[in-house]
Amino acid sequence: MPGSGGVCDDAGMSASTPANTTPSDRRVSARVGAIAESATLAVDAKAKALKAAGRPVIGFGAGEPDFPTPDYIVEAAVAACREPKNHRYTPAGGLPELKAAIVAKTLRDSGYRVEPSQVLVTNGGKQAIYEAFAAILDPGDEVIVPAPYWTTYPESIQLAGGVAVEVVADETTGYKVTVEQLEAARTERTKVVLFVSPSNPTGAVYSQAEAEAIGRWALEHGLWVLTDEIYEHLVYGDATFTSLPALLPELADKCIVVNGVAKTYAMTGWRVGWLIGPKDVVAAATNLQSHATSNVSNVAQQAALSAVSGDLTAVDEMRTAFDRRRQTIVRMLNEIDGVLCPEPEGAFYVYPSVKGLLGKEIRGRRPKTSAELATLILDEAEVAVVPGEAFGTPGYLRLSYALGDADLAEGAARMQKLLGEARD
Ligand SMILES: Cc1ncc(COP(=O)(O)O)c(C=O)c1O
Repeated sequence: MPGSGGVCDDAGMSASTPANTTPSDRRVSARVGAIAESATLAVDAKAKALKAAGRPVIGFGAGEPDFPTPDYIVEAAVAACREPKNHRYTPAGGLPELKAAIVAKTLRDSGYRVEPSQVLVTNGGKQAIYEAFAAILDPGDEVIVPAPYWTTYPESIQLAGGVAVEVVADETTGYKVTVEQLEAARTERTKVVLFVSPSNPTGAVYSQAEAEAIGRWALEHGLWVLTDEIYEHLVYGDATFTSLPALLPELADKCIVVNGVAKTYAMTGWRVGWLIGPKDVVAAATNLQSHATSNVSNVAQQAALSAVSGDLTAVDEMRTAFDRRRQTIVRMLNEIDGVLCPEPEGAFYVYPSVKGLLGKEIRGRRPKTSAELATLILDEAEVAVVPGEAFGTPGYLRLSYALGDADLAEGAARMQKLLGEARD
C-alpha cells in the first residue's frame, strides 16, 4: 500500500521473477507495474458494463455530475471546432487567453492574485496532480497524505519517486486531521503536505481556523503545500471554502493549487484542469508536459475559457440539486442498522462507516471487509459503490450523490432492503 514505503524497493524483481533475467525479459517496469488500477474508475466501468448488458444497475461509483455541460460552454466548443487556428498545435502550457481567464477567475473566486506565468493548463486535474508531484519530488521525499484520500494521490506521489505517508482521520473528527497528527507524521524527509477541502472521498470541509492552523504549521516547518481546490464551489449549509494561499500569502512560494472545470461545470469528459504555483515549478512542469502531452485539446480549452469567464449561475443550480440529494442519501443511509453516515459539508460524496455490518450474514454471505460488502451490494442489489479500501480506510463505502434524484432514491432503497436483511 502507499505509505508503506516498500513499493519501489525491488526494481521489478518480484518473487516470481528469476534473478538472472535481463532487462528485456522484464516486461512491465517496476515503476509502472506498481500502479494499481483506479478503483473508482474500475467500479464505474463494471457498473457501466452491467448496464450495457441490460442490468438495471444504479451507479454511486463515479464522481461525475449527471448534468450535461451548460449550453453556452458547448456552443463555445462548437465555434472553436470551426476555427482553423484551433486545428493546430498551440503553446504546451495552455492558450494565453485561457491562462489570463484562470488568473481572473482565481482572483474572483479565492481572492488569490497570480500571474499567467504561474498557470499551467493540464489534461484535467489528474494531470495537474501528477505533474505537480513530478516537478517537486525527489526520490524518498515524503508527502503527508491525510486519509481517507482520493485514490490518485498516493499513486502520483509514488510515480514521482516520493513516499506517501498517511495520516488517518475517522468519522469522529468529521474525517479531518489535526495539526498534532500532522506533526506526529513529520520527519526530516517530509517535503509536502496535501490539503484537500472539500474532500473526495469524505466531503469534509475544513473551517477557516482549521485550514489556517494547518497552513501556519506548514509555514513554520518550511513545507510545501499541494492544495486541491477542485470542489471549491460545492459547499453546503454554513460551510465555506478556504483557499490556503489566499488566506496565508506567505505560503505562495511553496504552494501548488490544483483546480479544473470538471466538477464545477459538469465537464468531466472535456479534460481541462490547471495548476498554479511558483514560476520555477510551473516552468518545470510545463517542460514535462511539453514532452508528454503538449497542449490540451484547443477545443476543450476554448470550452473551459467560456466556463471560467462566465458567471456561476449554472453551478449554483447544480449545487442546489446536490444539496437536496445529499440530505436524502444521508437520511436513507442512516436508516440502515449498522451504517453510520456523517453529513458531509462539501463535494458530492458521502462516506458512511459500514463497520457495523461486517461479519453479519446477508443473503447467505458474510462480508468481512468493505470490499466484500461492496461486491455483495453490486451482485444482490445491483448498486455500485466504492469500498473504503480504495481510499486507504477499510470499513467504509464511498457513494457519489451526483446522480439523478430518482436513481438516487431507488439505489438507496435497494441498499436499505438488502442491508436490512443483515443477521448475526
Ligand atoms: C479531489 C479531486 N481532484 C482532482 C480530480 C480530477 O479531476 P479531473 O482530472 O477530471 O479534472 C478529482 C476527480 O475525481 C477529484 O476528486
